[in-house]
Amino acid sequence: MDKFIITGGERLNGAVQVDSAKNAYLPILAATILCDDKIVLKKCPDFVDIKNMSLILEKLGLGVAKQENILYIDGSKANKWFIPVELAKELRSSIFALGALLGRFRQARVSYPGGCDIGLRPIDLHLKGLRDLGVKIVESHGYINCDGSNMKGGTVHLDSPSVGATENIMMAGVLARGTTTIINAAKEPEIVDLQNFINAMGGKVSGAGTSVVTVEGVKNLHGCEWTPIPDRIIAGTYLIAGAITGGEIMVEGCIPQHFSSLYNKLQKSGCKIKVFSDKIYLESSGRLKAVSFIETTPYPGFPTDLQAQMLTLQAVSRGSCIVQENLFETRFKFVPELTKMGANIKVNHQTAYVTGVKTLLGAEVYSSDLRGGVALVLAGLCAQGYTTVHNIYHIERGYANIEQVLTKLGAKIKRESE
Ligand code: UD1
Repeated sequence: MDKFIITGGERLNGAVQVDSAKNAYLPILAATILCDDKIVLKKCPDFVDIKNMSLILEKLGLGVAKQENILYIDGSKANKWFIPVELAKELRSSIFALGALLGRFRQARVSYPGGCDIGLRPIDLHLKGLRDLGVKIVESHGYINCDGSNMKGGTVHLDSPSVGATENIMMAGVLARGTTTIINAAKEPEIVDLQNFINAMGGKVSGAGTSVVTVEGVKNLHGCEWTPIPDRIIAGTYLIAGAITGGEIMVEGCIPQHFSSLYNKLQKSGCKIKVFSDKIYLESSGRLKAVSFIETTPYPGFPTDLQAQMLTLQAVSRGSCIVQENLFETRFKFVPELTKMGANIKVNHQTAYVTGVKTLLGAEVYSSDLRGGVALVLAGLCAQGYTTVHNIYHIERGYANIEQVLTKLGAKIKRESE
């Protein structure tokens, strides 16, 4: 196990290139199960979550080979529809395989998924949606056993716009007879990317990015090449890294409109922002003005995956801020670590009351989830003295070589083994 040791106080300066989106890559990898042909996925980042999903595909019999940053997937020999607990426990996205396995094999047996410890993360909406398509589901001994022999298109009303449930049901509908309509679908850009990927394989999906997604079942799919969209959360994280260190950075290879909810707030905090079609520039004047209220909501609202990073910025801004987390119950787990560093934050259920302090002080801190972990790195970058961030394997689930990227921007950060 490794840790990061950060010497705070360096102003970040320079350009950073954004990786492909983890949350686009994972459902797209699941969707390759639907296809018995060859798929080429470009710009594959070195995220632990993507390695785990690739392992799951291999266990299902798909061929997976990575050369440079290109992933070659051969679905012709896929022959299993069972995901055992040892694989599923590492990765919540293993649940996406359910819809795709049902599409391909009309049956699936998947262990309850793992992933970040950020709350209950139920899968009732996924299962209800699949049942609406005629799938018989029996839950026993931690496994979800699905019989899709009578699966066909149908109408699914989601009680709330779950990203994963929308993607899972979309995949189940691709090879099902008839038309599947998902009402109150999530609208995240990653869902649009999944739609476009499925259509590149010969599927007929429309409406992604709106609250109604329609999937017309097709008989079979064919191979294709695809480059998943850039990661809006990584782009946002580096933008905040620039903001929190009084820096000047250009975040390149991103789609700024995917995180306008963030950069509008950074602009109001006093950062100079210039938006281009595929990059965004930020110049921070130093200590910024706190934003009075931040509330996480489904896209296009403020993303829960940037909440921890933005809260950390508020912790060192001038003034106070209320942060309301509406998506996941335990996404303030990193807050006690920030208070160890001198932050003034009170949490009451899903609301954090943040009063900005002039500076944080380096400390030994422990990450407990992906985004909370990276928020501690941001805190270390602007703190006085040394910060040691432990349990960085959480961060590696969704950021590749973050210490090298930050070093290139002028940060003093090194990796050491525990
Ligand atoms: C996805 C993202 C994750 C992000 C989240 C919200 C991936 C791989 N992960 O997670 O990074 O934080 O969207 O933007 O894309 N819910 C239910 N029942 C369900 C499913 C969800 O009650 O069956 C609830 C959840 O508890 C949560 C809310 O719906 O409160 C949103 O969850 P969802 O959109 O499903 O998130 P994920 O797909 O798990």
